[in-house]
Amino acid sequence: MTYRPDIDLVSGDFWGRNPHEELTWLRRNEPVFFDEKNGVWAITKYAHLKEASTNPKLFSNAGGIRPDSGPVPMMIDMDDPGHVRRRKLVNRGFTPKRVQEQETVIRHIADDLIDGVAERGECDFVWDVAAWLPLIVIGNAIGFRPEDQPKLLEWSDAMLSVLGQPDPDRLATAADVFAGYTTYIAGVIADRRENPREDLISTLVHAEVDGDRLDDEALIYESLLLLIGGDETTRHVFTGGLYQLLRDREQWERLRADRSLLPSAVEEMLRWVSPIKNMARTVTSDVDFHGASLRAGQKVLLLYPSANRDEDVFADPFTFDITRTPNEHVAFGFGSHFCLGNSLARAELRVLFDRLLDRLPDLRLAEDAEPEHRPANFVSGYEGMKVAFTPVQKI
Ligand code: HEM
Repeated sequence: MTYRPDIDLVSGDFWGRNPHEELTWLRRNEPVFFDEKNGVWAITKYAHLKEASTNPKLFSNAGGIRPDSGPVPMMIDMDDPGHVRRRKLVNRGFTPKRVQEQETVIRHIADDLIDGVAERGECDFVWDVAAWLPLIVIGNAIGFRPEDQPKLLEWSDAMLSVLGQPDPDRLATAADVFAGYTTYIAGVIADRRENPREDLISTLVHAEVDGDRLDDEALIYESLLLLIGGDETTRHVFTGGLYQLLRDREQWERLRADRSLLPSAVEEMLRWVSPIKNMARTVTSDVDFHGASLRAGQKVLLLYPSANRDEDVFADPFTFDITRTPNEHVAFGFGSHFCLGNSLARAELRVLFDRLLDRLPDLRLAEDAEPEHRPANFVSGYEGMKVAFTPVQKI
């Protein structure tokens, strides 16, 4: 019998390891694939993914972005025109000026985190550095108190890591975490209504576009989206990107010698890691899509990691190359839902790598084996990564 991979796209186990052998098989043999076990379609090729992402009338976000659950009241689960109205309001907190101001703040946070490990000569890069940076950046920007950061990291982590894991106890814990988190955010929102400050929550509470404002429910869900959307995603790109650079030390040294390569190196890390593994759309009417008969109401998954290794678009897609140009990857999605935090994430990536290259020049992997992936079906990356370096002074 000919080889046909056994693929369960909704299980954390499929995404919790390197899935590229199967994804490559699908691109070549069944580019629009029906996962019978879960009753969902998957789009694996770059051109098809862009086509579906720019046809919201046929591929709607309103049924929710997960294959196995319905919508929640946040912009990513809406179609236009409601989506664009909501997005304009939240965008008030993400002007280019605001992101630029963040660069100095990100630099201080990066240096503080490196200080925390500098004298030890070794650390777990995920849990000592990479997990904290995006959490602290977005937590400070939103306006959460610094002393709440450990709790926020725990919460944010718990909500995504359970997806795709059938263990009912873990799901129950995530539901409790979600409830605790919404109560916490509601408190911050109520406070900023009375006492506005220079933070994102205050901006969002008072934002007005064409007479529209965000009500309490919208504020709770959009701030939740900002926290969990930008936290684990960016973490996994730091870690997966660093892993590649340290495995191919020549590229680390090249980047160290020539920082003008940082922007293209960051794009390559995003393409390579693609930390968001898929987003769902709901088909709105029966249609033939590149040979597949899609039915109204069915869900379709856009497989970003697969599109980002599509050999019809990327030369040598399985080679990690920090000089790759052009590099029109879709790690941030495509179309009207294109990641709202992309400039912030890119700034975090450039700044942390710049500081690591300066301060820990002989950084190296402490273990031979590739680290374990997190077995989650939405956002996945390395669960931990031990690194070593010559101890240095704090600054
Ligand atoms: C949407 C990826 C960081 C906030 C998205 C989408 C992807 C994505 C794939 C969906 C796009 C689509 O459906 O076409 C990433 C990656 C990140 C990252 C890979 C880090 C490396 C961030 C950050 C923030 C953020 C830092 C906020 C601070 C959002 C929001 C949306 C979104 C609000 C929904 C936009 C909409 O529905 O219009 N992101 N993201 N993301 N992201 Fe990100």
